[in-house]
Amino acid sequence: MKKENAYVTIGELGEYIGQEVALAGWVVTLRSSGKILFLVLRDGTGICQGVLEKTAEHDALFDSLSHLGQESSIEMKGVVRVESRAPGGYELAVSGGRVIGESRDFPITPKEHGIDFLLRQRHLWLRSSRQTAIMRIRDTVTFAIREFFHNREFKLVDTPIFAPSVGEGASTLFEVDYFGQPVYLAQTGQLYLESAAMALRKVYCFGPTFRAEKSKTRRHLTEFWMVEPEVAFIDLDGLLELAEDFICSIVGKVLEKNRSDLELLGRDIGKLEKVQKPFARVTYSEAVEILHGSRAEKLLRVEYSQLEKLIAELEAELEASTQQQATVTKAWQKDKLGARIIEIRDQLAEARESLKNIPLHLELAKGFNWGKDLGGSDETIISKLHERPVFVTHYPRMTKAFYMRQDRANEQVVENFDLLAPEGVGEIIGGSVREEELDRLLARMKEEGLATEPYEWYLDLRRYGSVPHGGFGLGIERTLGWICGLKHIREAIAFPRMMGKVYP
Ligand code: 4AD
Ligand code: MG
Repeated sequence: MKKENAYVTIGELGEYIGQEVALAGWVVTLRSSGKILFLVLRDGTGICQGVLEKTAEHDALFDSLSHLGQESSIEMKGVVRVESRAPGGYELAVSGGRVIGESRDFPITPKEHGIDFLLRQRHLWLRSSRQTAIMRIRDTVTFAIREFFHNREFKLVDTPIFAPSVGEGASTLFEVDYFGQPVYLAQTGQLYLESAAMALRKVYCFGPTFRAEKSKTRRHLTEFWMVEPEVAFIDLDGLLELAEDFICSIVGKVLEKNRSDLELLGRDIGKLEKVQKPFARVTYSEAVEILHGSRAEKLLRVEYSQLEKLIAELEAELEASTQQQATVTKAWQKDKLGARIIEIRDQLAEARESLKNIPLHLELAKGFNWGKDLGGSDETIISKLHERPVFVTHYPRMTKAFYMRQDRANEQVVENFDLLAPEGVGEIIGGSVREEELDRLLARMKEEGLATEPYEWYLDLRRYGSVPHGGFGLGIERTLGWICGLKHIREAIAFPRMMGKVYP
């Protein structure tokens, strides 16, 4: 590997057993018995424990290191030895080192913190082992996406962020002042990508996307990354096959490269290994029947009783821990119990909230009428009834964007699909065949009350050699949230943007 400096990284230590190396990184923990110092260092590639004895020779070094605070940056030299009990499997017999940058009272301690606090400390929170695991997996996902399309001869086309017209729905537009003219931040690259597909046949774009989502949910950000392929001469079956191969290849790459990260996150890897072709395909109308049916009801009832049991267990543990905390004498015992109490309270709040929502979800499912768009709780139910991702196709025309192709056999529905990830995650992909006939497209725009003028360029694609074509968009954060088993997608991006949250 090409090096940018003289330091060996922790990830490479296996190649240096028995040799003296210099590491550079940040202090995770320090423990000193007065005679011997254990210092756990992280350097962005792994963690390594350094051991330093207080000898006459190392007296000054011992003193300078043993007073360091968490996250101080240091250089540490020593001989590498195999130590199966050490985190990472190697240990450094420290013989030299120096402080690079001190850190005092690092705000994020190994104790538990609330989510609002952590989000305000996001610039520092990123250093934690969970967050670095998520970022490493995100890197794998991004690379796997580019590789997948590159290997299939798709060409990357970067679409604009300043857009003069609505892409996906007028209610979530971010307006910006473009030299006195109002324009919007891109909600999708799709319409531009359709032009490019007429030039290059198979194309994709991959970039940030903006939606003024005014609801606070676990699945919505106001700025998220979306990858969108678009293909000329493709039909709905072709699109489903493409999406299926795409998801399997992304999940496969993560399983290959990030097993230890998934383990660190506590992800049930077996569930990801089940992500194999073929995925189930249900139509929207079938999905409505599922929502009305007994399987959905049973699922919710089972969940209700499981939650009741969990709540009772957590309440009992909370009481026991609180009593124990009052009697223990050592500070570290009090801290440990305190951390667990915060955790239990969070879990309890969440479980009570879910319990409260179940009757509502049941009511929504039972009362679901054909013609409505599937809501978050409806998607959750359908997704939970499947072990693999599931395609829902042929939604009512009126719930979907104007550009979707009407099914010629049933004009009430369109040739579209959403891909719902399993385990209750819900939609991670939305896509469709595009309406290729000018007259039908114009009629749909009229139905939606859209002025044609801003879309003249888009309509030109139907005037000059129109062909059947289609594509889809996959949200990176939702996909990553599913793969990593995150409860909320805010941890799936380095600096999340949500309503009311833009700092740091
Ligand atoms: O279903 P959507 O709105 O589809 C489109 O934008 C199409 N133009 C795509 C296409 O056909 N080329 O969004 C696609 C995906 C969703 O399935 C979801 O994964 C993600 O984008 N997404 C969001 N992710 C996070 N926060 C939000 N507010 C999101 N809105 C959509
Ligand atoms: Mg959608």
